[in-house]
Amino acid sequence: MKPPPFDQPSPAEVILLRAFLEAGDTFISGTTLAHRLGLSRVAVWQHLARLREQGFDFEAAHARGYRLTTRPPTLHAALLAATLAPARDVDFSLSVLDEIDSTNDEAMRQLTAGRPAPFALLARRQTEGRGRLGRRWLSEPNGNLYLTLAFRPRLPPARMPTFTLWAGANLCQLIATFTRTTPTVKWPNDLLFHGRKCGGILTEARIDADHIRDLVIGIGLNLAPPATGWPAELRLVATSLAEQSRTPLDPNRLTAALLGRMLVTYERFAAGGHQAALADLWNRYDALRDREVSLLDGNERITGIARGIDDTGALLVRTAAGRTRRVQAGEVTFARPPVPVSNS
Ligand code: BTN
Repeated sequence: MKPPPFDQPSPAEVILLRAFLEAGDTFISGTTLAHRLGLSRVAVWQHLARLREQGFDFEAAHARGYRLTTRPPTLHAALLAATLAPARDVDFSLSVLDEIDSTNDEAMRQLTAGRPAPFALLARRQTEGRGRLGRRWLSEPNGNLYLTLAFRPRLPPARMPTFTLWAGANLCQLIATFTRTTPTVKWPNDLLFHGRKCGGILTEARIDADHIRDLVIGIGLNLAPPATGWPAELRLVATSLAEQSRTPLDPNRLTAALLGRMLVTYERFAAGGHQAALADLWNRYDALRDREVSLLDGNERITGIARGIDDTGALLVRTAAGRTRRVQAGEVTFARPPVPVSNS
């Protein structure tokens, strides 16, 4: 396969955009920008012209300088990098690709090729976006998020499921602070609003002897419905943040916040001592807690009341016989609909 055109942030553009973001509504002089960049004012002007071609706009005022007035509505690598203030101390890189088969597959290929981890890989469109259990993940170029975080954790393979749960609970918390609407997470990887799916996580790894060598955490998040509406088979089961929060979302701000949160907390989470923090976060967003659920564990059907997760990320199900079963993998269905709550 032909190597994709990497769209990595230009360092000069990141410095310029960071200066504009820090300045907010205040004008910054060409001289200050030139100083920050270590380049001439002509070079600053040329960079601004290039940024204008990419969907930015700047107001220029005589003797005062420039200020940022318009940002591109779609993912922009340099803007993401410039917005990622909290993660500045974490050594990582990011790329935004126009199109790729699957960001998980491409991240694996890049890990194999030796790209230093951690890195984040985003695409505006996937041609073969994948979900769990071999399902297809609709990946149209309509501003939705198709993102993979890539790590080399050197941890025992048993830790793998915890990364999916960690990503899901973090996503819920971020969406709640960003949109003022709170999704829930259905073990192990579905993000839901009132039973409709708005996102999912696909964690994959390459295991080396008894260690995870390469780990990719793929996140698909519906920011908006497809331009032509949801296809018939998804109409009743899918939703998006725009439909739920009814406020326009800036994909660059949301993505930068997500990357910042995950990159900053990753080391501590991977290093261990993660159990209490994960359980606490999970319990806040758990869609299954205290619901009657049913799932297949191998050939055996287990039905009972969901009671959260254990340290390894297994789902705990209390059966009618009074046993607590630990389920490590499976597709959960609700055994019966939630009891309607009356407002009267
Ligand atoms: C699921 O709910 O089944 C998981 C969906 C995961 C989709 C994301 S989009 C980015 C990454 N690349 C893929 O091919 N899949 C994941």
